[in-house]
Amino acid sequence: MILKVSRLGHPVIRTPAQAVAKETIASPAMQRFIDDMIETMHEYDGVGLAAPQVHVSQQIAVIEVTQNRRYPGEGPIPLTVLINPKIHQLAKKQLVDWEGCLSVEGLRGQVPRAEALDVEAYNRKGEKVRFHAQGFFARVIQHECDHLAGKVFLDRMPDLKTLTHLQEFARYWHD
Ligand code: NI
Repeated sequence: MILKVSRLGHPVIRTPAQAVAKETIASPAMQRFIDDMIETMHEYDGVGLAAPQVHVSQQIAVIEVTQNRRYPGEGPIPLTVLINPKIHQLAKKQLVDWEGCLSVEGLRGQVPRAEALDVEAYNRKGEKVRFHAQGFFARVIQHECDHLAGKVFLDRMPDLKTLTHLQEFARYWHD
């Protein structure tokens, strides 16, 4: 089922999400909700989606990049479900790149993000997973974890001068 996406201005976008109780991960309701999040991400060509973006204030995020119309040229990321994720930035070094957000419709901006992370989370089977992420994958994880803390990419922009509508992005900023 495709879920309704919440947009900036809805309080749920600014509310830190609750941790998920490990015992509830395997429940049919939770598994169905995760499937719905994945379907919703696909429907809107997102590379990631956090539960608060579909009006559910719980620490769940889904990420996947195949060939994405909104982010051409970014390498594939296999379908990843992160529950109660914790990230640890590995390098001081930050990379600046463009981000957009289904909850901040029609806008793009340049955001600095840590280049590499250690990530710890539950997967959709309720298993604890630990892995290393870098580059675009690390960027998307940081963006989604921000959603789980009630933050959006605008909060991470050191200034708003690169904030642009999509049409103007294609016209003036696209290399
Ligand atoms: Ni977003």
